[in-house]
Amino acid sequence: MKELSRLLSQIPPSATLAINDKAKAMQAAGHDVIALAGGEPDFDTPAHIVAAAFTAIEAGYTHYPAPTKGITPTLEAIAEKMAKENNVHVNPKTDVIVTPGSKWALILALSAVINPGDEVLYLSPAWVSYPPMIQICGGIPIPVDLDPEDNYTVTAAKIRARLTPKSKAIMVNSPCNPTGRVLTQAEVQAIAEVAIGADLYVVTDEVYEKLRFDGRPHYSLAAEPGMAERTLTTNGLSKSYAMTGWRMGWVVGPTPAMKLAAIMHSQTVTSAATFTMKAAIAALRGPQDIIQEMCQSYQDRRDYMVQALNEIPGVHCPSIDGAFYLMPSFPNSQKNSVQLADALLEKAGIAGTPGIEFGATAENRVRFSIATAMNDLERAVERIAKIAHEL
Ligand SMILES: Cc1ncc(COP(=O)(O)O)c(C=O)c1O
Repeated sequence: MKELSRLLSQIPPSATLAINDKAKAMQAAGHDVIALAGGEPDFDTPAHIVAAAFTAIEAGYTHYPAPTKGITPTLEAIAEKMAKENNVHVNPKTDVIVTPGSKWALILALSAVINPGDEVLYLSPAWVSYPPMIQICGGIPIPVDLDPEDNYTVTAAKIRARLTPKSKAIMVNSPCNPTGRVLTQAEVQAIAEVAIGADLYVVTDEVYEKLRFDGRPHYSLAAEPGMAERTLTTNGLSKSYAMTGWRMGWVVGPTPAMKLAAIMHSQTVTSAATFTMKAAIAALRGPQDIIQEMCQSYQDRRDYMVQALNEIPGVHCPSIDGAFYLMPSFPNSQKNSVQLADALLEKAGIAGTPGIEFGATAENRVRFSIATAMNDLERAVERIAKIAHEL
């Protein structure tokens, strides 16, 4: 038999999904596992969005959409949201594509800008899928290592240190999975300054945009002066609206790049689901207070977890500004993050994701999702307190 894909053979499957599957299999076999490895809101999708999908199906929104990149009212609702909330002004006819989840929006963005061998920088620690996505699109992933000791602060100097003549783009994620950092205006301006100076495209993943705590503002890179023509913004409803299974996201960006992204889209997945596009309008234009309630609940869980984990000897848990992940370290432990995650699963029945999956600067940490019911978080804290000295 001839060799199967060399490219895909080198790329590991998604670590977070794999660990989550393992935890679910252990649960199915009767083990009491607290699953903190995934990235899934524990809330139900708000009822008015569900109702809009049923209405759309009954009204016959069950065929291919036209245009395939999104029905006009959904393209308009996205452009309207971007203008109103992000100060990013795009033409809904030419600059927006509705995607099945923001993961596909990221692939479209990367495939529109990368040529084989181009280097794509990304801020590290980063979500597990960034390096594989860059590779799948023909690029070479280059981490810009951020330091947990200074709260993963981004500076122009740190990015510039990783530039080469092959640098083509930089991927940014704020609020960030896994660090929980929300970029400040100064950090966003620093990224913009380097991008303009080095003629880089920016792919900015804003899927956790609405999950910010303590009233922290969100700054979209595409809104910075000189950035609209080089910034591709991805976003979606999975996290903020508790709609992971609906697969609804979008990418917006400059017209020439969006033209290419639309070719990739139509030649591969064709479109997002038509009735889901109708539900997305209900989400974007409907009441937003329920989103704030969910966000407040994540903030309450953060407050509880950060305090409770820091009270356990041998556990250090920095607080977070947004998203719903904590990445405690275990300063007295000699174990690496894979061994730590294994020990937590075996000794305490807690599934977390080893930090190394997010990059070298997250080694010796384990990522826990706090999009988990409070009583499970309380049980997790009790169990960690019992076994922390064994870690
Ligand atoms: C940083 C980040 N971006 C994108 C996604 C993908 O979200 P979706 O494809 O469900 O919109 C995730 C999901 O975990 C994520 O953590």
